[in-house]
Amino acid sequence: MKFKKNILCIGAGYVGGPTMAVIAAKCPAYKVTVVDVNAERIQAWDSDELPIFEPGLLDVVKQARGRNLFFSTDIAAGIRAADIIFVSVNTPTKTFGQGAGMASDLQYWEKTAHEIVAHSGAAKIIVEKSTLPVRTAEAMERILQENKKGILFEVVSNPEFLAEGSAVKDLLEPDRVLIGSRQTPAGLAAARAIVDIFANWVAADRIITTNLWSAELSKLVANAFLAQRISSINSVSALCEKTGADVGEISFAVGSDRRIGSRFLNASIGFGGSCFKKDILNLVYISRSYGLDEVADYWQAVIRMNEYQQDRFVRMIIREMFHTVVGKRIALLGFAFKANTGDTRESPGIHVAAKLLEERAALVISDPQALDNARCDLAGFTASGAAVEYEPDPYRAAADAHAIAVITEWDVYKGLDFKKIFASMRKPAFIFDGRNILDHQKLFEIGFNVFPLGKPSLTHFK
Ligand code: NAD
Ligand code: UGA
Repeated sequence: MKFKKNILCIGAGYVGGPTMAVIAAKCPAYKVTVVDVNAERIQAWDSDELPIFEPGLLDVVKQARGRNLFFSTDIAAGIRAADIIFVSVNTPTKTFGQGAGMASDLQYWEKTAHEIVAHSGAAKIIVEKSTLPVRTAEAMERILQENKKGILFEVVSNPEFLAEGSAVKDLLEPDRVLIGSRQTPAGLAAARAIVDIFANWVAADRIITTNLWSAELSKLVANAFLAQRISSINSVSALCEKTGADVGEISFAVGSDRRIGSRFLNASIGFGGSCFKKDILNLVYISRSYGLDEVADYWQAVIRMNEYQQDRFVRMIIREMFHTVVGKRIALLGFAFKANTGDTRESPGIHVAAKLLEERAALVISDPQALDNARCDLAGFTASGAAVEYEPDPYRAAADAHAIAVITEWDVYKGLDFKKIFASMRKPAFIFDGRNILDHQKLFEIGFNVFPLGKPSLTHFK
């Protein structure tokens, strides 16, 4: 079959895989190939055991796989055949050298730029899908222009806004698709070629076109604003615990103002995930590198508040369990950084588990999807003899435990039979609800000592 255009995506991760699956499903006239250096990942994309857990994703993949959606490790061939190349490689926080702990590590991204130059034989549009520092497209252009074959490349920024756990829905019904390009005839034509792809299923008024730098920076700013809301409500949760106010009631009252809006106001043990922290650190680093220290300090406070909230939760557990958790069995319900994903990158669960293990608690980690990742995250502790068990069944995890701590807001935890759980636990039984998802009054009536976040605790102690 002759396709209208060949699309290649370099990077078959949480973004590249789902995004390309949706493009392929919605655009049968385009051939979409996804390549990665990780052969195991590519193999998994070609099977029914996809490498990531994402509701609805397998159905979308199956619609297009083998028709116009292909997975491969042959990066060179993919580049040669492509008209449009999406670059969706990882851009983690740098762990070494200049900017360590703050700046983006652009080594994977730069490697793809050189590979594109090496294997291209004709003009191509290069689309930045990865989240990148503002003005990265300029560096990409410089590398691409170094080609000795006279090939013209046009760089476009098309940042991704999907959230894990709802990736398919976010891709099918996006609030907006953002496409930034040079404001030259060639740049605008490249942007139009990308608009044409999304126009297959996204309404025209939801496709925003901007200049390159606005698109790159909008992505960092969107994540910073979302994370800032969480840090704001988490800061209020600490104040609630001191004053008797209820953070849930405050979220509702404040969020009812349509200028503020109700979403992303759930107090929690802090935000996790691979991107919020990384992208804000990057924003802070960029601001500082331009000498904008006040701007940098402002955004850095969002991260500081997040760390404070995670620490506060652990301190609460230790304090309320009579200042010692040595040898006490504590069941962590959930380990993923949010519900409906198996991803544990930057999960607050890692921090909570590490701190409790340092206090010599005995942990049982339970999660419907994230236990394999949890094992990797805590491998260091297990190797040094710390007491950690992994148990998918929440009932078995809680049996004989002194305390339960809710780490992830999985729906399944709301429907548990807590009478049965209470009966199987050591007494006094504690429950720390790091997500405020449980019925605290009911738990108290069953006999638990209940510690929500930002709400009055309910205890049976005289
Ligand atoms: P990921 O680590 O899941 O996937 C990246 C993939 O790129 C890996 O499979 C890796 O093997 C591959 N890769 C790296 N270098 C390569 C190379 N030279 N050639 C071929 N493959 C290569 O990362 P992700 O979560 O998909 O994130 C990708 C980008 O998208 C990041 O910049 C991230 O900030 C951004 N982003 C992520 C999300 C999310 O929900 N995870 C959402 C929006 C934006
Ligand atoms: C986030 C953004 O929502 C996406 O738009 C963006 O594309 C993505 O980052 C990215 O760039 O990687 P994601 O991290 O997958 O998506 O998930 P979110 O739903 O944003 O949740 C992030 C964290 O905040 C989770 O730990 C979640 O539990 C926490 N959260 C969220 C709260 O603590 N309270 C809330 O009210 C909302």
